[in-house]
Amino acid sequence: MNIQWYPGHMTKAKRAMKEDIKLIDLIIELVDSRVPLASRNPDIDELGKNKARLILLNKSDLGDERQNEAWKAYFQGKGFYVVKVDSRSGSGMKAIQAAIQEACKEKTERDRRRGIKNRPVRAMVAGIPNVGKSTFINTFAGKACAKTGNKPGVTKGNQWIRLNKTLELLDTPGILWPKFEDPNVGLCLAFIGSINDEILDKEELAAELIKNMSGRYGKRLEERYGVTLVENTAGDGEDTKKAWEILREIARARSCLLKGSELDTKKAAGFLLDDFRSGKLGRVTLEVPEV
Ligand code: G4P
Repeated sequence: MNIQWYPGHMTKAKRAMKEDIKLIDLIIELVDSRVPLASRNPDIDELGKNKARLILLNKSDLGDERQNEAWKAYFQGKGFYVVKVDSRSGSGMKAIQAAIQEACKEKTERDRRRGIKNRPVRAMVAGIPNVGKSTFINTFAGKACAKTGNKPGVTKGNQWIRLNKTLELLDTPGILWPKFEDPNVGLCLAFIGSINDEILDKEELAAELIKNMSGRYGKRLEERYGVTLVENTAGDGEDTKKAWEILREIARARSCLLKGSELDTKKAAGFLLDDFRSGKLGRVTLEVPEV
């Protein structure tokens, strides 16, 4: 399954972000905890090469806690500051302030040597669409955010949300698009629902999800749908066939039937994808960091 999806306004957004980056000290990059690499755009490393960097493992409520920790260590090992957050509930927000001060220590020190006191850190939130940027800004900035609304007489352009004396946030997040050269990236983003399902074959996608989950998370599928997974045979060419068989079993278990009692695997695929995305299959991380 090869997913190609390229919005036309990508170049324009990247140009805007390049300009905005000149104004800031720190990039707060959001990634999705369930697919922390597929939900990154590597261009951000080039764009932000002289900036302090903080990665937020967002939607950590949906990622496997052991893997969240593994990914935190992975990114820390690459020199990033990292905080696990759930922007919807607000969990992890407190730890961010401390991480920001730590990430910007050099800047603060440089300011101090130049006799500049109390200049706030200016930060930009960045990430691919649907990773949770707006939710994060709303939760993190809270009421301060509302104050920046379009007021008559205020020049349009860059607005800053002043969070406190030490931090200002650019109110427009930097939007980057994922890299689709690797077909696995497209798949991962489709699994989490970041690509419009209408352009995808749901059954094929569900079969791919079953393949991906059947190793580490096979038990979850067995428990939820009462199906039996045969031993993980990934790589022997039989795994796709088996994934489709499991999808049919799910259709049977959920009584997804067409007229004439034929199995409705499309409906079953919908169930599976919804269950996965809403966390009903438990907390699942689909990418494992290389050690
Ligand atoms: P964006 O600005 O980066 O495009 O993303 P946005 O904030 O719009 O968030 C995309 C979806 O992800 C929203 O769900 C949002 O609620 C959800 N989300 C954001 N952060 C988290 C998180 O930490 N945990 C979980 N579980 N979900 C998160 P939606 O279904 O599109 O909207 P809604 O039904 O929540 O309004």
